[in-house]
Parts: sequence; structure tokens; C-alpha cells
Amino acid sequence: MGADATAPEAAGGLAARLRQHEARPLLRLITCGSVDDGKSTLIGRLLYETGRVPEDQLAALRADSRRHGTQGGRIDYALLLDGLSAEREQGITIDVAYRYFDTERRKFIVADCPGHEQYTRNMATGASTADLAVVLVDARKGLLPQTRRHSYIVSLLGIGHVVLAVNKMDLVGYDQATFEAIATGYRALAAQLGIPHVQAIPLSALEGDNLLARSPNTPWYDGPALLEHLESVEAGGAADAGPRRLPVQGVNRPHQDFRGFAGTIAAGSVAPGDEVVVLPSGRRSRVAAVLGPDGPLPRARAGQAVTLTLADEIDVGRGDALAAAGDPPQVADQFAAHVLWMGEAPLLPGRPYWLKIGTRTVAASISEIKHRVDVDTQERLAAKRLELNEVGYCNLALEAPVAFAPYRENRTLGGFILIDRQSHDTVGAGTLDFALRRASNVHWQHLDVDRAARARLKGQVPKVVWFTGLSGAGKSTLANLVDRRLHAMGYHTFVLDGDNVRHGLNRDLGFTDEDRVENIRRVAEVARLMTDAGLIVLVSFISPFRAERRMARERFAPGEFIEVFVDVPLEVAEARDAKGLYRKARAGLIPNFTGISSPYEPPERPELHLDATAPPEALVEQVLAALDLDGHGGVTPPA
Ligand code: ADX
Repeated sequence: MGADATAPEAAGGLAARLRQHEARPLLRLITCGSVDDGKSTLIGRLLYETGRVPEDQLAALRADSRRHGTQGGRIDYALLLDGLSAEREQGITIDVAYRYFDTERRKFIVADCPGHEQYTRNMATGASTADLAVVLVDARKGLLPQTRRHSYIVSLLGIGHVVLAVNKMDLVGYDQATFEAIATGYRALAAQLGIPHVQAIPLSALEGDNLLARSPNTPWYDGPALLEHLESVEAGGAADAGPRRLPVQGVNRPHQDFRGFAGTIAAGSVAPGDEVVVLPSGRRSRVAAVLGPDGPLPRARAGQAVTLTLADEIDVGRGDALAAAGDPPQVADQFAAHVLWMGEAPLLPGRPYWLKIGTRTVAASISEIKHRVDVDTQERLAAKRLELNEVGYCNLALEAPVAFAPYRENRTLGGFILIDRQSHDTVGAGTLDFALRRASNVHWQHLDVDRAARARLKGQVPKVVWFTGLSGAGKSTLANLVDRRLHAMGYHTFVLDGDNVRHGLNRDLGFTDEDRVENIRRVAEVARLMTDAGLIVLVSFISPFRAERRMARERFAPGEFIEVFVDVPLEVAEARDAKGLYRKARAGLIPNFTGISSPYEPPERPELHLDATAPPEALVEQVLAALDLDGHGGVTPPA
């Protein structure tokens, strides 16, 4: 009986305590430094001291420390990390290990990135969600170039709080002057980079000085110990302040009478009755209900995942944003932005990528690299492309407008990633700085005589035949033959040939990857204008990259773009060598020559794949059939 009487109360008390425990605020931190700075020892010891290491692992740690340890029989905390990071061996490209520990007051997630050459990419991955960065330096060495690099990335990703952990103080005799000199130097650096909050702490991760509690070895230091600071620092959690923003993650429609919009509140708070505007459509409504996991809420705040219902039946989809009607975010499609490149293949201006911002994914390209930023020195350097781990300040052009906020105001609404359209890998991360005005000042001008009218007058259906293949494959000859046939039948045609266009419109372009991207971008736009004019356009460019042929294809309606792969083995093209270019390329006289020192990516699904070892005269009929100008797989003279 007695047990029955107390059980509910005890359970209630426990549940309440558990809830309270769960509700402890979370701090996400990233540690920057190398094993030499004592990073593994620091993290290992934090996990150990906060009771995060299970007993069996502790026994193993003691044994390993005796056998392999570098600490003369004492516990080697760094071994703990080696044991925990077996996941690293699995060849994960982006190499960030997340570890968890907690205290009575707070929960912590530590992003730990190894210090090898992939550092920038890994660090950016770990830092993108971090509230605070622990920057480690060795007291004997002071600030190093890598300290500057780490801090630059910290500032780039908008982490406002840094702990400068001056480690190995035991090895400099706990000397105050050494510590102060490093701390002063770092504050100057932080000020330069615009990092607002810096706490410098003299530490010995190995000896445990100032780790959990103030150390008697540094009586001159009156700041907090590391864990004290991490427990109490006011960083973390999304900002409640600012007008309400909710990127819509999904639409819940379990039955006819319910339509809810789910997402995580990125800024501000939401309550029933609030006026909202849907972006980018601009439609307005009022919040009917705010639903949390346990039912309706009177109000929800930044960081909470909720489902909203609206008072009106308006069109809202995944990727839209719901915002305060009185203070909506800006909407734009061109931006100045920092981009940190993570792709193995370089970023090339003009090449299309997917850009994901909040819950929205749109096609985008870098229209211009203003400059590259050396991550070690922050020097601005000229650049035509960005290689792996490089940072650039760029103009960014999106295919459709998005709601956003500058990254410094809101990390959710101003941060984006770039995704390769072929492999779907994340190849870049970036931060929006501001919208470019020209976007909103240029409008489409309506033309009374439209593309259909022009095509009708010519009695034909505009098309683009896109010939791609190696130099010497016979593209130009074939295009020319097809052109003659169509012309003779009365079709209105035009040939765009690489060699010719490169003498005029594209005379400023060479044969680097980035110039070829721009070459194809321009010719695709010209071809597009020519189809608008009602023409049948024959494009004959090597166009060696899949990404740009795809970009060209996307300029046209389905069925309008006919990709013709003029396929010959390299040996055949080289043996023909009509212009003598292969010979020069083999002699090293022409750099970046397609097939020799620059790649050709064959089409995967062309409309027509021609065996161009046959003479061009034998291939014309196949092209005409693929063109299907009479709608029956053939060509008859236009009406
Ligand atoms: S593309 O790769 O950018 O599409 P495009 O078709 O415009 O090339 O130009 C190719 C022509 O330029 C070739 O037919 C050849 O005559 C000439 N050329 C000169 N240098 C090169 C080079 N490095 N690689 C390929 N073609 C070159």
C-alpha cells in the first residue's frame, strides 16, 4: 500500500527532474587546433572529467595508457579520442567527429575536426552550427599562422564567442607575462576579424589546471576555469529577437480539413493571431494555431519546431518562408556572398549548382569571383576559380528569388550550401552579405511580337541542334552539311561554330575550364535568342563538360534541344588532325587541349549518338531525322 501511495509522486518528481535535465540549454562548440597543441588531451579530459567515459572503456584507457601512453604510466587522455574516432577510418569525406558531454547546468556538443590538409572544409562543416569556438595555442609557441586561419573561419561563419585556450602553461612555468602577451596579441587579431567576445584562459589540459576549477598554479589569473566559462557563457540557441521567420520544411495535409506548415522557427516568435506574409509570393494571412509536439501552444520561439495553421486557404509550399507581415525579410536573386569551396573539382564561375538556403533549393551560379581570401593571411587575391578549401568573395546569381537575411543578422536565413548537380555532393558553403540592387532594377520588357509569332511567320518550329565532340570529330562539317540541306528546303537556320564565335563575341576567352564554361554559357544564350527569333540553330562547339551542356539544355523547352554526340575515338581525331593542332598539343605547344591535357566528358543520354568514324555525308540523314521538323521523324519543306 505504502509503495502504491508514494509511487506516483516519486515518478512525477523523477519525470519533472528528467524534464528539467532535458531542458538544460545546449552549447555547440568547435575546437580548433592540432594534436600538438594538446587538443585531443583537452577534449579527452573534458569527457573523462564529466563522466562521459563508460567504465569498460576506462579500464581499457588505463591499460592503453600504461602500454602506449606518452604520460609515463599516467592516464593519456588523448588515447581516449583515438579510440573514439574509429569512425574516421571509414573514409568519410567530411571528417568531423561530434562528441557529447554534459554537466548539471548544460549539455555540450563538441565538433572536433582533424588538423590535416582538409582542415578548412572540415572546420567550416563543424563551425557552421557552433555557438562558440575553443582556439587552442601552445603557450610555448604563441600565436601561429594556423591560429589566424582558424580564427578567420570562426569569424567568417559568424561565431561570436571564442575561448583562447593557452595550453601547456605547465611547460612555461605558469608564467603570467607569457600568457598576457599571447592574450593581448589574440585580442588584437579578434578585433581585426570582428570577433566580439574573447575569453583567454591559461590552461594545462594535461595537469588539469583551470580546466574544471581555478588552479593554484595561476594565482594571478582571476577569470573562470574552462568548464565554468562554458557552463555560464551566454552564447547558443537561436536569437529570439528580431521579426518572426519560419522557413517551411513541409506541408502536413492528413485530411481535407487540415493544412499545416511545419518548420523550425529561425527568428522571433509566433502566436495565434499573428499576421504573416508568405514569401516569395507575398500573400498574407493570420496564424490560426501553433502546434508543438504535445498540442497547441500559446507562443513558440526561435529554435522550436512547430506546425502552423493559417486562417486563409493560401498557397504555401516547402521552401517558402512565413514572416512577420509588418517586417518581412528581403527577397532577392543576386547577392554578394562569401563562399568556402569544398569540392574536389574547382568552382567555376557560370557553372550551375544547386543552392540550398533554409528549406529552399534553387539553381544558382557564381556570376563573378570578386577576389579570393587567403585563409592564412586574409590577403585579397585575384582568382578566376576557387579550389578545394579556398574562400572567395563572390557575386551569386539565383534562378529564382529567395527570402533571406544577411548572415551576420541570422545564420539560418543567411547561410547556404552549394550542391553539385551531378553527384549531389555538398561542394560549398557560404554566407550572404547583401542583395545586389541590379537584380530588382531590371525588369522583363514585354514584346508584342512573341517567339510563337516569329516562328509562325517562318512556318517552322525553332530548335537547337547541339553538336558536341572532340576537335576534329567532324562537328563543323556535319553542321554545315545539315545547314545546307535545311536551307535548300527553305528553312530559316543559323550555324554557331566555336571557331567563328571565338573570333568575335568570345574573343576574350581561352581554353581554361573557366573560360570554356563562359564560352558555352554565352553561346547557349545566343542560341536561345536565335530560337526566340524563330530560327533553327546548329551549334558546333566541343562543349566538353556535362554541366554546361546541361545548362544549355535547360535554356530550352523539352523537345527543343537536340544533343548530338559526334563520337570518334581520340586516335581517329588525332590521325585526321586537319588543323595540325593535335601535333602541336602533343609537342606541348598548346596547353589544355581537349582529349590530351583537358578532359572531354562524353554525353550520357544524347538525343543522337553518331559513330563519326563514318564520313559526315553519311550522317546527315540521321541528324535530319532526329530534328523531326515535320513531326513524323523526318523533314519536309516548311509550309
Ligand atoms: S569549347 O571547349 O570551349 O567548346 P570551342 O568549340 O569553342 O571549344 O573551340 C574549339 C576549337 O578551338 C577547336 O576546334 C580548335 O580548333 C581550337 N582550339 C584551340 N586551342 C584549343 C584547345 N586547347 N582545346 C581545344 N580546342 C582548341
